Amino acid sequence: MTAAIRVLSLASEAVPLVKTGGLADVAGALPAAVAPHGIAMTTLIPGYPAVIAALGIEAAGGRRRGRSGGGPRLLHQWDDLLGEGARLHAASLGAHPLLVLDAPGFFARDGGPYADPQGRDWADNWHRFAALGRAGADLAGGAVPGLGFDVLHAHDWQAAMAPAYLRFAPPAGAPHVPTVMTIHNIAFQGWFARENFARLGLPRAAWAFDGVEYHGGVGMLKAGLQAASLITTVSPTYAEEIRRPEFGMGLEGLIVSRGARLRGIVNGIDTAAWNPATDPALVAPYTARSLARRAANKRALEADFALEPGDGPLFVVVSRLTTQKGMDVLCEGLDHLVGLGGRLALLGAGDAAIEGELRKGAARHPRRVGLHFGYDEALAHRMQAGGDAILVPSRFEPCGLTQLYGLAYGCVPVVARTGGLADTVIDANLAALSAGVATGIQFDHVDYPHLAQAITRAIALYHQPGAWRSLQRAGMRADFSWRRSGAAYAALYRELKAEQA
Ligand code: ADP
Ligand code: GLC
Repeated sequence: MTAAIRVLSLASEAVPLVKTGGLADVAGALPAAVAPHGIAMTTLIPGYPAVIAALGIEAAGGRRRGRSGGGPRLLHQWDDLLGEGARLHAASLGAHPLLVLDAPGFFARDGGPYADPQGRDWADNWHRFAALGRAGADLAGGAVPGLGFDVLHAHDWQAAMAPAYLRFAPPAGAPHVPTVMTIHNIAFQGWFARENFARLGLPRAAWAFDGVEYHGGVGMLKAGLQAASLITTVSPTYAEEIRRPEFGMGLEGLIVSRGARLRGIVNGIDTAAWNPATDPALVAPYTARSLARRAANKRALEADFALEPGDGPLFVVVSRLTTQKGMDVLCEGLDHLVGLGGRLALLGAGDAAIEGELRKGAARHPRRVGLHFGYDEALAHRMQAGGDAILVPSRFEPCGLTQLYGLAYGCVPVVARTGGLADTVIDANLAALSAGVATGIQFDHVDYPHLAQAITRAIALYHQPGAWRSLQRAGMRADFSWRRSGAAYAALYRELKAEQA
């Protein structure tokens, strides 16, 4: 039996402690996904107030310092982590080791992980997440005696400085540690003004075209992509798409130049948390063999959203309210959806202008369009169980998780043919339908005519109960657990370790 490969995974969010989107689902699930394949993963996240509170970490000087036993343990201290004092606590994420970067100057504040309570990005985000990267690089470089790592895995721009620090400013005497940089969304690049460079603690050589410099400023994701030993993104189709200007958002040239080191690995879902047979959030749990029980969930959802019952399908949306997610086009499609006898229940948070448009649509269609603004995990589960179809009209979607939850719950996905949506849903064309393998509906071009046509197709299929059941069952049979993708990440770490030898 070979020794486990030790991986340090760096992320700015992880379920169940802190979540704003799919990144948290993935970072939270990855340790368990790779464990069966001989990978010992430790996760490092920032100590936001909610994390510190949930883990019961005490303020500096508290009684728990350095104690052994079940609770968090103080492992390490930085007097000066890019200008702030910081402590590192060891805790656990499920059954797996967790490290928490407790740097009050950076993270102890009200609001979200990236923005203040008014939704404005924190002005010092460059500093906060550079510090996360610096801490990750220090740990990978052996800052804590007895805690070594074979590979560092950074997620998104918030963690992307770690590979850059290991490349340009590794801790003294550190072994070479290979790095993986995962792109969950290339639209968020962590770009900051040039004057911040001087405070990153990097040598002048890092201010280079193939280093940290990007369009005259500091490009954090760019720096990580340049420095990483391997790059991954969260679906094979997105890995292809980001080579093109429409999807690469300015980084397409870099992506093409590093193309030989880029892989696409589709996300899995946590099949324990997202299982309609055992989901505690549901009114009536069910399986593919007891789909009739979904009706009780549908009635409950209609009541939750004050919708009148009807013969047509109940569409659901669980989404950030942004143009990435096509929510502006959804607003345009509401009249069509309702005109054909459909109803809509939407759970979302985000852009205020989109929220306003949705409110107007709901006002035009009382008891046919129901809205819930905010973030509600249990409701997100109930919507997958009570909805007939989930709409995901994203302009781009690196992977997407809500369509996977829809598949698992028999809530038929109606999706744009892009990124992970293209890779995970099988369109109900004639051939797929007659072979019994179709799982949903795909459409090209996120605009009103194409969305309207997809809604028309969905409603027509819904009125053919045999075909609809077949879509639901095929989706529920499909395997989107972490089994395959966990193995794929493990193979990647192994490959990097082998390159070292
Ligand atoms: P993204 O990360 O781009 O937002 P994903 O589809 O990968 O998109 O992940 C979104 C995750 O966030 C899913 O787990 C989804 O259920 C959840 N989610 C999105 N909006 C809400 C909301 N308003 N309330 C509860 N969960 C939400
Ligand atoms: C990002 C992407 C989403 C993906 C998630 C997890 O938020 O927008 O498509 O599923 O990351 O990888």
